[in-house]
Amino acid sequence: MVRKALSELVYKIAAIPGDGIGPEVVLEGLKVLEAVGKKNGFKYELKHYDLGGDHYLKTGETLSEETLDDLRGFDAIYLGAVGHPEVAPGILERGLLLKLRFELDQYINLRPVKLYPGVACPLKDKTPEDIDFVVVRENTEGLYIGSGGFLKKGSPHEVAVQEMVNTRLGVERCVRYAFDLTRKRNKVKKLLFCGKTNVLNYAHDLWMRVFEEVAGEYPDVTTDYAHVDATCMWMVKNPESFDVIVTDNMFGDIITDLGAMIQGGMGVAAGGNINPDGVSMFEPIGGSAPKYAGKNVANPMAAIGACVIMLDVLGESKSAIDVEEAIKRVISTRMKDMGAGKMGATTQEVGDMVVEEINRA
Ligand code: IPM
Ligand code: MN
Repeated sequence: MVRKALSELVYKIAAIPGDGIGPEVVLEGLKVLEAVGKKNGFKYELKHYDLGGDHYLKTGETLSEETLDDLRGFDAIYLGAVGHPEVAPGILERGLLLKLRFELDQYINLRPVKLYPGVACPLKDKTPEDIDFVVVRENTEGLYIGSGGFLKKGSPHEVAVQEMVNTRLGVERCVRYAFDLTRKRNKVKKLLFCGKTNVLNYAHDLWMRVFEEVAGEYPDVTTDYAHVDATCMWMVKNPESFDVIVTDNMFGDIITDLGAMIQGGMGVAAGGNINPDGVSMFEPIGGSAPKYAGKNVANPMAAIGACVIMLDVLGESKSAIDVEEAIKRVISTRMKDMGAGKMGATTQEVGDMVVEEINRA
């Protein structure tokens, strides 16, 4: 966690607008950051990094060691989106996004699932009271490490192995973070481990043992377990049953897309890639959406929501609350829909409205 003496409180923020709608939505997020900074008196320096698909096509580079080292010196990274239609799948994902997560050891992917008032929810009869939980996704291990290989590639006897690596240290720090968060949230204080212990008899055996062991240190937190398939079912059927969910990298990826849908879609879902002792990175979780790029129609709320998480992690909790309240007011009183092109306002106008609400309050 970034803690600075008040006298030197100038945050260093790196912006990586990235691909597709990334630059447009990041611009709105930065507008909001500026407004709330002025209002509450915190200061920051901003540096832009031109990374992503276009940069790769121009230079053949995804993320140089030099840029990476530069980024290590920031308090936070604000990321738009990564993914380009002319770049083969995996190159930018592994070479930029996952490289940042891994190299900066952002071992938590924090993804709140929260239905704001006024957002259409695809679940019948569910209200904002029913949908308000957080997914803590392990972010540096599991199936994402990129370890494995082919044997006899291209032949009828081809073998493809993709290794899932779970370390005691990696699992424990993630589980501990989730217990701490559950305590801090102070809602019903229930932490659920989402796994697949009936099939992943090594990987999730380790997870379960660590989960139960760490639970002993948190007698105030109720623990629960569900298999990942059942978790998906409950997220649709009884989302109100969740407070905090802790899970591995792959399952966390999947269930948070489901989570995004029940909170109103990719236009509102945001997340933080967190290294509690280092540089964290904040992003809308929706991706680059190339078909909406450059049209001023994408919903910037997810990117603005990423600023809320960033402010919170930086320790600017008053500003985080101010921005979130402004988001809520804009959504409930000034927007028609959360979908791109259906908002009843442009990307820029939505950003302006959030700024107005911040200044008005
Ligand atoms: C996400 C994305 C990434 C992931 C992709 C782009 C590598 O889907 O942030 O959830 O799988 O983590
Ligand atoms: Mn994903």
